[in-house]
Amino acid sequence: MFSFSNLKRLLVLLLMLPKLSEVYLAYNQINHIEPGTFSNLLNLRLLNLENNKISIVQNGTFSNLPKLATLLLSNNQITVLSEYTDELMSIANVYLKNNPWQCDCRMVSFRQKMVGKRFEDHIICEEPSRLFGQKLKDIEPDDLICDEPQIVTFKMINGNRPVLEGETVILNCDVSGIPTPDITVTLPSGRNATVESGGRVTVEANGIITIENITATESGLYVCLAASPGGSTSANLSIYVQGSSSVSPTSIYVQGPSSVSPTSIHVQGPSSVSPSISFGFEQL
Ligand SMILES: *[C@@H]1O[C@H](CO)[C@@H](O)[C@H](O)[C@H]1NC(C)=O
Ligand SMILES: *[C@@H]1O[C@H](CO)[C@@H](O)[C@H](O)[C@H]1NC(C)=O
Ligand SMILES: *[C@@H]1O[C@H](CO)[C@@H](O)[C@H](O)[C@H]1NC(C)=O
Ligand SMILES: *[C@@H]1O[C@H](CO)[C@@H](O)[C@H](O)[C@H]1NC(C)=O
Repeated sequence: MFSFSNLKRLLVLLLMLPKLSEVYLAYNQINHIEPGTFSNLLNLRLLNLENNKISIVQNGTFSNLPKLATLLLSNNQITVLSEYTDELMSIANVYLKNNPWQCDCRMVSFRQKMVGKRFEDHIICEEPSRLFGQKLKDIEPDDLICDEPQIVTFKMINGNRPVLEGETVILNCDVSGIPTPDITVTLPSGRNATVESGGRVTVEANGIITIENITATESGLYVCLAASPGGSTSANLSIYVQGSSSVSPTSIYVQGPSSVSPTSIHVQGPSSVSPSISFGFEQL
């Protein structure tokens, strides 16, 4: 028996202990397991990974473990098991309860292979909403569908028009589809922003895009791309950001025949890109 909480040294340690038969890693913050992590544990019979944050089980993670009879993966964040997880089928006791299962087209192959396995009762759908609470085993493969992404709206939901430099601009790229599409926003600079990329432009999974402290150079075309296993689609939004220099004029000319009302006033900013403002006065 062996338990472990310092994950940084896990790999090294496992390499040094090839005779381990039980490994307990429950209640850690594990979110990712490199395929091959357990590959030299030829005597491993029990592997407990419950109550972690594992979201993806990659092909090969539990292969080459000839004696593995019990694998505990309950209470994690696994959404989908695809055809790359055949190795689970040969383990006698697999626990998969309380994961946020997404019952869509990605699960068709797994659904067909799991028939008769003990864990088939553990897979209770969280999404899509119409299948919430149902067991995967009770759903016909034909009902495990992926719906093409659609962009319902892509628009600015705050701010003045035109946008002023320095403002925080919030956009909404409202998407639908099964599974929920991933959003990529291509900025006028050509750079992409996603849920993973940090910085001044953030993208949330629900399609809210926040651009802090926008600059005039960020004027231009914003493209929202929604993509999922069901397909992809995109929408455009043009944003014009007015340079702040235009609000602080450097010179005012008052012109007109002497001793009568002016006929025009020109307000001009310091840089050539900022718009100038003109007032015309009719002579009385
Ligand atoms: C998954 O890994 C096994 C070996 O562990 C390999 O035989 C199989 O081709 C892999 N499947 C895919 C879809 O990559
Ligand atoms: C941005 O994303 C689009 C769509 O995924 C892709 O075609 C393009 O190459 C990406 N651009 C950069 C700079 O990564
Ligand atoms: C906004 O951007 C300007 C120019 O890029 C910078 O000088 C300023 O400190 C920024 N303000 C904030 C709150 O990030
Ligand atoms: C978005 O803009 C690009 C570049 O101007 C254009 O090729 C594309 O057709 C536009 N897409 C939509 C959905 O309007």
